[in-house]
Amino acid sequence: MKKTAALFLLSVGVNCMTAQDIVPVHEFDIDIPKVGSPIQSTMYGIFFEDINFGADGGLYAELIKNRSFEFENPWGGWEPFGDVSIAEKNPCFNKNPHYAHLTYAGQITGTGLENEGFKGIGIKADENYDFSLYARTETNNPIKLRIELVNRDNDIYETQHLEIKGKDWKKYSVILSPKATEAKSRLRITMETAGTLDLEHISLFPEKTFNNRTNGLRRDLAQALKDLKPGIFRFPGGCIVEGTTIATRYQWKNTVGPVENRPINISRWNYTFPHKKFPDYYQSYGLGFFEYFQLSEDIGAEPLPVLNCGLSCQFENEGMDQHVPVDKLQPYIDDALDLIEFANGPVTSQWGKVRADMGHPASFNLKFIAIGNEQWGPLYPERLEPFVKAIRAKYPEIKIIGSSGPDSEGKDFEYLWPEMKRLKVDLVDEHFYRSPEWFLNSAKRYDSYDRQGPKVFAGEYACHPTNRENSFLTALCEAAFMTGLERNADVVELCTYAPLFAHVDAWQWRPDLIWFDNLNIVKTPNYYVQQLYGHNAGTNVLPLTMNKEPVTGQSELFATAALDKGTNELIIKIVNTGIQSKKIQLNLNGISSGKHKGKLMVLHASDLEAKNTLGKPETVIPIESAVELEAPATEVSVQPLSFLVYRI
Ligand code: AHR
Repeated sequence: MKKTAALFLLSVGVNCMTAQDIVPVHEFDIDIPKVGSPIQSTMYGIFFEDINFGADGGLYAELIKNRSFEFENPWGGWEPFGDVSIAEKNPCFNKNPHYAHLTYAGQITGTGLENEGFKGIGIKADENYDFSLYARTETNNPIKLRIELVNRDNDIYETQHLEIKGKDWKKYSVILSPKATEAKSRLRITMETAGTLDLEHISLFPEKTFNNRTNGLRRDLAQALKDLKPGIFRFPGGCIVEGTTIATRYQWKNTVGPVENRPINISRWNYTFPHKKFPDYYQSYGLGFFEYFQLSEDIGAEPLPVLNCGLSCQFENEGMDQHVPVDKLQPYIDDALDLIEFANGPVTSQWGKVRADMGHPASFNLKFIAIGNEQWGPLYPERLEPFVKAIRAKYPEIKIIGSSGPDSEGKDFEYLWPEMKRLKVDLVDEHFYRSPEWFLNSAKRYDSYDRQGPKVFAGEYACHPTNRENSFLTALCEAAFMTGLERNADVVELCTYAPLFAHVDAWQWRPDLIWFDNLNIVKTPNYYVQQLYGHNAGTNVLPLTMNKEPVTGQSELFATAALDKGTNELIIKIVNTGIQSKKIQLNLNGISSGKHKGKLMVLHASDLEAKNTLGKPETVIPIESAVELEAPATEVSVQPLSFLVYRI
């Protein structure tokens, strides 16, 4: 570990020094006329995986868990009372055949169902919630149902009624408007009249979803994504692409079409960590590939789907022959080709029609596809090769992304990079969940990369301290590291922090970018680093040096500069990981002398362990102020432990 990094890391809890302690002036030379490599508009993006209850119970706004009674335990999430059973004869939806069969057991016993939601159902006073179910009854007389939002103490927040009539499955709906705000309410359905009935696909959505879409997304979480201004949007994983077995891999075709008939899949995060088991973790696929493409469009990000390459999770299947033989890959290759057709094909094509029938006749204009997630060894390139051939032949305009495995360096990484070059993929996906020291020492990582080979997609990264918590320390290390991504924008074209979301009561993996409970959201300091980069990407790299070298940790400083050709603004990013203020003379070479107005955004905390929490979500947030930088030179003072973005 470098001495500077050690000093920085040892400084946890040390109070910062005062302005009087400011030490010698450092000179940054910024050559504004020497406009360098383009920074792709896709450079800073997001990576979504359904981990930590990121989809069901998170971004996907459905509030009912196991709405179709399809969990391995069909009562998962439900508490039935009275005469209730699970049936599957003459189902309403053939791919989700189970339903609840209820017979009135009298007023005293009562008959009905209660759903616990995802660690509760979050409701807000005076907001509307769309309740719906499918039902039929054998009974000649109509059956009255009472629909309530309640809590464990039997406080009732809302009551409505539905009347079920007829022997055929029909959809019924009613609006619920609770009188109180409650993070952990429950939904209760009670039979009020005698008879027998069947209930299926019981659903509750907030009326206010992101962009007011039906089958929509939680507004605050989707808005937080949009607010990052992401250029690229990787989906749906992560390990869930691979599945623990081939049978449990992510299959995009199961995630499109009517939401009621999308077959569910167990989440591998249900059982991956023995100390964190979540037997109620399944993927309803309500947030499927259509919703993903639509969200990408809504937030202005290019979609980047990742598909299974015929390998199930290699961590879980070491030494076992669980994988698809190379000569049996055609259905997997077809899945990739069909996905491109689903995204871009004309409405007259088979999959383009499915997209159009779902409400989006226009193309989603897909430009990227990744094949394989964290794969390694010869098993991977021998499978990737036929995918590359088939995609190139049919869709030569699509950029293909291959994997360099789960490690940021080492044997598997060294093996796969040349293989990716041999296969001529457009980009190589690199993953690094590494220590603060690694992040600081790796700000130079891409300075020496091959400029002729495939480009880099830093597809999963996050700074992992020993306690695996989000903190200002991790955010600052990421900000420092990212100066190296930006300076090397001729090599690195995309990068996405991972994972994106975590439910505070149901997480498996941390750190994560955004935390939430059933009502509120917490943007971590790491989120603000991503946001500052996303909003201040610029269009071209500008040379920024100190003593003729890129600034990659000398005197605990990291820096990069960019030009935004669209707005004709100069953007300078500086990270000070030291515990002393730094005086920096900014030599702004090549712009008119005199004062240039602009703004300065600063992310700072004096405590490296500072965190944003549900109780204190704004402990570490960027502070913006107006500035004037004078050309040809201005001296600025950079406070300790801070990430600064100048924009003039
Ligand atoms: O982001 C969490 C996991 O980390 C991803 O599923 C996997 O790709 C990586 O190992």
